[in-house]
Amino acid sequence: MVAVRITGTGHASMRIDTGAGSILTDPWVNPAYFGSWFPFPDNSQLDWETLGQVDYLYVSHLHRDHFDAGHLKRFVSKKAAVLLPEYPTSELEDELRELGFTRFIKTVSNEVIELDGGLKIMVQALTSPTDGPIGDSSLWIEYDGIRVLNQNDARPTDLSIFAELGHVHAHMLQFSGAIWYPMVYELPDSAKTAFGKQKRDRQFDRTWRYIDDLKASWVFPIAGPPCFLDEELWHLNDFGTDEGNIFPDQSEFLKEYAAIGRDNGVVLLPGSVSTLTEETCTTTHPVDDLGEFFANKEQHLREYAERQRPALETLKLSWRHPEIDVLKEMKRRIEPLLEESIYLATGVGGPVRFDLVGYDGESVESVVVDFPGKQVRRYADEKVRYRFRTQRALVEHLLHIEEVDWVNSLFLSCRFSAARIGQYNEFVYAFFKCLSEERLQYAEGWYDEHQRTSDAEDITMGDWVLQRRCPHLKADLTRFGIIDGGTLTCQLHGWKFDLASGRCLTSAGHELRARPKGEPAPVAPADEAAPAPDPVG
Ligand code: FES
Repeated sequence: MVAVRITGTGHASMRIDTGAGSILTDPWVNPAYFGSWFPFPDNSQLDWETLGQVDYLYVSHLHRDHFDAGHLKRFVSKKAAVLLPEYPTSELEDELRELGFTRFIKTVSNEVIELDGGLKIMVQALTSPTDGPIGDSSLWIEYDGIRVLNQNDARPTDLSIFAELGHVHAHMLQFSGAIWYPMVYELPDSAKTAFGKQKRDRQFDRTWRYIDDLKASWVFPIAGPPCFLDEELWHLNDFGTDEGNIFPDQSEFLKEYAAIGRDNGVVLLPGSVSTLTEETCTTTHPVDDLGEFFANKEQHLREYAERQRPALETLKLSWRHPEIDVLKEMKRRIEPLLEESIYLATGVGGPVRFDLVGYDGESVESVVVDFPGKQVRRYADEKVRYRFRTQRALVEHLLHIEEVDWVNSLFLSCRFSAARIGQYNEFVYAFFKCLSEERLQYAEGWYDEHQRTSDAEDITMGDWVLQRRCPHLKADLTRFGIIDGGTLTCQLHGWKFDLASGRCLTSAGHELRARPKGEPAPVAPADEAAPAPDPVG
């Protein structure tokens, strides 16, 4: 009987074995983001020497819980051909070449390629500045009539392109959180719990929507949650007692999935093996009782933390670089980019303050990135749009390694607290993931092009006529929009809009065009009919 075998290797990683070769995806073992995230469950004890001997390697994107340079270098065969997503910059390819990979299959987004032995693959690359570290992707494969979609943590607006290729047997997708919100915000605990609960519900709603889109035979919850082994971050682990925790684990997924009447979920622990045929999915696990494993999660994490303690302590010591003059270095790195930035700088629209806590845990140096003034300087007692408070050593380290993506390091580490005036502002994070000429130019160009794209088409939903495409990242609101009272929620990222005013309730700017059904469409005066692109997000 024809079969495809999937071995769980932790988080978003899996090894897919077919009669025409094997693919290893996103192997991640070493802690990521300043030692904050570890794979859950522990996958360090797997036989990586053997697992790494594969025909193909797929690294979906450069987030550190998908791209683990040390592990790739040490364990993955350099004979493996890399299935490379079509990204606007060559960073992923460059990083993999640096590690010794030389064979690359450069995919074209949304085009099926047939490899040796009849193995077909398709990689869909998402390329907006808010997708991963500029780019995230999904991998579809077909072997002898069996189809697998590893959507990983990508958020396409639509899965129809995969569905059109035929019935999918296994659908792997993210269901848990992978962000710092709302935990790092300086808010009362009750507010954090309420926001966290909303966020958790939204994550599940989005997951159900994708699952319903594809209607695969089997659904595999993957790509999270991470676990937090440092005592400082221990409270971020979900032990099933905090309804505001945004990192539900696979057992919580199964519970919630059962609550909506579904029973085709398959959990892969590191070392679990699922054998897929067109009709069946048979799974074996490295533990006798999956339920018991999750019931003992706290003990698993305590033992895991104990094993990782020495490595974590060494890592922490490596962050300090007292020789670095932080203000001077931030000026040198950031000011030329501020000077060039039009869309992002205007979108941020105000100063952003970093409070850097010294090694003594008390002294604080305040540095401001002044977007309107295009400079980095000392804080001058002004009102700021965002304030971040973190250890000075972390910023020293970012400057020391010339980190171009502070989202893929500092922010995902959750080792900071934040306060802001007004709404979430995506441009702040877009800017701090673009601290290189190449990335900044790409993001500026992307916003430029998308500001120009017309949103002319209207749809009718309930009692409202509104623009078809979400003002955030253009999701089709006939599929992702839900109206509750006077509020529209786009379920792709959960953004909300007040229909009467068109105001975005989630983020600054991003107005929605909407009017009550039956009310005539406003006629624009001639000189406003074709407005110039508005750089304000
Ligand atoms: S596309 Fe992101 S919320 Fe709509």
